[in-house]
Amino acid sequence: MPTLTYLGHSAFLLEGDGTSVAIDPFLSGNPNASHRPDQIAPNTILLTHAHNDHLGDTVAIAKRTGATVIATFELGEWLQEQGVERAIDANHGGTVAFEGGTVKLTPAWHTSSYKDNGAVVAPGVPAGLVVRFGGKTVYFAGDTCLFGDMRLIGEEGLDLAVLPIGDRYTMGPADAARAVEFLNVGAVIPCHYNTFPSIRQDPHAFRRLVEERTTSRCVVLDPGQSHEV
Ligand code: NI
Ligand code: MN
Repeated sequence: MPTLTYLGHSAFLLEGDGTSVAIDPFLSGNPNASHRPDQIAPNTILLTHAHNDHLGDTVAIAKRTGATVIATFELGEWLQEQGVERAIDANHGGTVAFEGGTVKLTPAWHTSSYKDNGAVVAPGVPAGLVVRFGGKTVYFAGDTCLFGDMRLIGEEGLDLAVLPIGDRYTMGPADAARAVEFLNVGAVIPCHYNTFPSIRQDPHAFRRLVEERTTSRCVVLDPGQSHEV
C-alpha cells in the first residue's frame, strides 16, 4: 500500500514499491514545511501549477536528483529552459506514465504564474492530478474552486482526494465538503490552510462537516505525518 506524507501547505510525498513522487514541493519559504528540500529525493515530481507556493523547490530538487517533472505545457517548457533535463509537458485530459504509476491532468479553476524578483517568468494554466500509484488512485485537486465536473473526476474511481480548504485563493471548507460529495471518494485529506494568516482554517471543523454530510472518511494530517492510502 502506498504511503502519503504531508510535507505542509500543498506539498506531499507519495511512496511505495521503492519509488517516490513529490507533489508541489514548496519547502524552503514554507513556514509549516516538515522537510528541507535536501531531505527528499523523489523519482518524480508532479506539479499542479506554477505559483511559488506549489512550484517551490522543484528546480533545485530535480537538478539534484534527476527527477522527472510533469506539468502543464508552458510550465513544462519553462522547466526545460531552466535545465531540468526530464521535464515533461502535458495538458488537461492527457495521461503520462512515470516510474511506478501514471498521472492524468484534469482542469482546475485557478490561475498559474511563477514570479521571480517581481517578474512573471512562467505563465500557463493550472491542473488537478489523478494519480494511479501502487494500486490506488489519488486525486490532488491543486488550487481550485468547486466545479461541477468534479463528478466526472469522481467517476475515475478514487480512493483518496486531497483538497484545499483555505478559502480566499481556493475552495473554503463548505465548498470542499461539497466537493467530497461530488467526488464520491473513500477518504479525503485537507490541505492549503494555516500556512499564512489569510488561509487560517480549523481542519477538524472540516472533518466534522465531511463526516456529517458524506460517508467519506476525513484524515487530518499535521506536517510530517503519513497516511496509508
Ligand atoms: Ni495557486
Ligand atoms: Mn496555492
